[in-house]
Amino acid sequence: MGSTHFGFETVGENEKARRVRGVFDSVAPRYDLMNDLMSLGLHRAWKAYTVLVANVQPGWQVLDIAGGTGDLSEAFARKAGPAGRVVHTDINEAMLRRGRDRLLDAGLALPSIVCDAEKLPFASASFDLVSVGFGLRNMTHKDAALAEMQRVLKPGGKLLVLEFSRPAAPLQRAYDWYSFNVLPRLGRLVAGDESSYRYLAESIRMHPNQDELKALMKSAGFGHVDYHNLTAGVVALHVGIKC
Ligand SMILES: C[S@@+](CC[C@H](N)C(=O)[O-])C[C@H]1O[C@@H](n2cnc3c(N)ncnc32)[C@H](O)[C@@H]1O
Repeated sequence: MGSTHFGFETVGENEKARRVRGVFDSVAPRYDLMNDLMSLGLHRAWKAYTVLVANVQPGWQVLDIAGGTGDLSEAFARKAGPAGRVVHTDINEAMLRRGRDRLLDAGLALPSIVCDAEKLPFASASFDLVSVGFGLRNMTHKDAALAEMQRVLKPGGKLLVLEFSRPAAPLQRAYDWYSFNVLPRLGRLVAGDESSYRYLAESIRMHPNQDELKALMKSAGFGHVDYHNLTAGVVALHVGIKC
């Protein structure tokens, strides 16, 4: 077994999966509130843009990976309509349960399935769209997860990876100050958990930048890959087409 990163720490691969599970078990009850507070509501605009680029058509088969509390699944399901199917998945049961309950409250009974993005339990070439929102950063073997996403897409299908990325240079100092001073304090005050929000800030720094992720997606077999910087690169939406 090899070693990997958990934030700025070097840990064993099994240890990373265990600690990521601990983070999301802990933050699940306050996840949506914290997202609104930390991003000042911007995560809603980033996700709305993702839904626009997804351009889901009635009848599409859609897979939402690391779907958590389900906001992308909900938006995709409204577009895919009754003839389509959106599968809401996550490796973490606590996050998935909150998402399932929220989807039911919104009048949507979608399949919610616990699964690891690195070993997807779906047939090859079965989805028109696969999306992963703020999830890839937490995965131990990003190359294996991207290869799985490529496998389950139909030829011509689209992968959307929405993730924190590298902001433009003039923003960097203020962004670092905010990430390492404000986020952990907000986590302590609102969710009673400072360390999970310190992990968030650290994991963003350890994640591949825009061009590195583009190269990873190309190596996973995507024929065409491009990215859109959002909020000056604080977040990037990578689009991969299975050619
Ligand atoms: C920051 S949340 C994102 C939730 C939601 N997509 C959103 O945008 O708000 C990250 C999610 O990734 C999930 N995750 C981490 N590793 C995973 C893996 N190997 N396979 C599937 N999901 C994973 C976590 O359980 C967590 O729910």
